[in-house]
Amino acid sequence: MSKVMNVAIDGPAGAGKSTIAKRAAKELGYIYVDTGAMYRGMAYHMVEKGIDLLDENAVSEEAKKVHITISYQNGEQVVLVNDQNVNGVIRTPEVSAAASKVSAYPVVRACLLDLQKEMAKKNSVLMDGRDIGTVVLPNADVKIFLTASAEIRGKRRYEEMIQRGEKAELSEIIQDVIKRDEQDMNRKTAPLKQAWDAVLVDSSYMTIDEVVQTIVDLVQKKEMA
Ligand code: DC
Repeated sequence: MSKVMNVAIDGPAGAGKSTIAKRAAKELGYIYVDTGAMYRGMAYHMVEKGIDLLDENAVSEEAKKVHITISYQNGEQVVLVNDQNVNGVIRTPEVSAAASKVSAYPVVRACLLDLQKEMAKKNSVLMDGRDIGTVVLPNADVKIFLTASAEIRGKRRYEEMIQRGEKAELSEIIQDVIKRDEQDMNRKTAPLKQAWDAVLVDSSYMTIDEVVQTIVDLVQKKEMA
């Protein structure tokens, strides 16, 4: 059997991580693990339960009780919260903001860390998030830090929402992106930051195909090493 390969892709919101990671994983024949979706599942559960997201103790206690798992259906990652598929309800701006808040709490992060590490132990994975190269998979074979300017990231998110038929205001979305970056970069536990050994890829003026190819090339070079 060939060696299990671990690829870490980190970067800020809206850099195109999930679209790109999903496609690169498919080309490489690896499993795509979207850790942001796990935090979103956790956040959705807290919102549903009416828990005050600013109350770290209450969120932490609930995080220990809730059961978050992931499964794969037709190659798509499905997040299960207490066995309920939440994929359809975790991409709203409300859940995005809530995920950024709850993911700052160490207990919440600890609850999801084992699941993430376990997946990478058994399978060749391409895992995306904020702290994959720094905390979750510090020994990953390839680490990529994928970014783009806040304006371009906001514009991409805006276009996605318009395509889904949702109402959106571009300037508000850019402000949201900047706010989330600040929260994600400045939290004490596992902040968003480029690992020292990660390759920086700025997708601002690259097509999706070009970014996917860059990543696939980096991984294949490593597979052959
Ligand atoms: O990638 P995303 O937008 O789906 O992530 C949702 C939130 O979860 C984001 O605000 C930061 C947080 N997150 C995190 O703290 N660590 C990760 N590994 C992935 C996401």
